[in-house]
Amino acid sequence: MKRSHRILCVDDEDFNLDLLEALLHPHGYETMPAQNGREALAVLASKPVDLVLLDVNMPVMNGHELCRKIKSDPQLSHIPVIMITSLDSKENKMKGMEAGAEEFLSKPFDQAELLLRIANILRSAEYENAFEYLILALARAAEANDIDTGNHILRVGEYAALVARELNQSEKFTELLRSQSTLHDVGKVHIPSHILKKPGRLTDEEMEEMKKHTTFGAKIIGNHPRLEFGSRIALCHHERWDGTGYPNGLKGTEIPLEARIVSICDCYDALRNSRVYKPNYNHDGAVDIIIKGDDRLKPEYFDPEVMAAFIKLAPRFEELYQKMREPEN
Ligand SMILES: [Fe+2]
Repeated sequence: MKRSHRILCVDDEDFNLDLLEALLHPHGYETMPAQNGREALAVLASKPVDLVLLDVNMPVMNGHELCRKIKSDPQLSHIPVIMITSLDSKENKMKGMEAGAEEFLSKPFDQAELLLRIANILRSAEYENAFEYLILALARAAEANDIDTGNHILRVGEYAALVARELNQSEKFTELLRSQSTLHDVGKVHIPSHILKKPGRLTDEEMEEMKKHTTFGAKIIGNHPRLEFGSRIALCHHERWDGTGYPNGLKGTEIPLEARIVSICDCYDALRNSRVYKPNYNHDGAVDIIIKGDDRLKPEYFDPEVMAAFIKLAPRFEELYQKMREPEN
């Protein structure tokens, strides 16, 4: 049976927490109380929460600060936040929006309105989760003919999010990148298995065939506005900064930033991952090849700014690789 929705209620006054509990319980919601930001973060770390109801004025950590923390944490940012404020000022609302809150209600709130907003927001959150889930399912489906690359697609998403943050990209950019970079190789579903699994280097003809996974990928993803990111990444993740990449030989900033980021992340992980046709490198070995190049890879392939971010973040790449590698059988 599906568990009931769990709502974290954050307010420094017991009276308000009791009121929310009395209102929400009869409607089948489970509530978790917290009296300040710190307590709220402890609850979020211990249990899955579906929605946060947040009072703005609290001691220890106010509602805006807590909301910002939630929205900048990759594990929590998907949880919708409704801010309840007694100060019905425009400034307060603006601050809340900046912090990433989805909805606002002013105190004293209308109970029927609160219930409706909660129901609506939970419904859209479910659609959003299903959308993210399907992106991943599609990415996984495309791996069917390929050698087992473990959690490669998920790791690439996490590395890419790290780089995006380092480059001061918005939370929205970072989240889109994390989610849709998993689709970078989706076009491989069209590439014959004997090419994907071939031990040893590909012939020129096989390489030409392999290169098509970029255009196939963009074609599969299509041109839905919500998947533009994924489509550009699939098409351009083998383009190179110096213009020697494929399929279109784009150069420098002609290559979308999201693809420039995925390119270096994909390379690092491919070097780490054991492949039948080449040795797998340890962390230092992989970083060394990306920075200094070898017989088939040159540092000029990468955007210098993305490269600088990669060098700075390299220890965190190693952490993520270790954390997300498949357990050895
Ligand atoms: Fe690829």
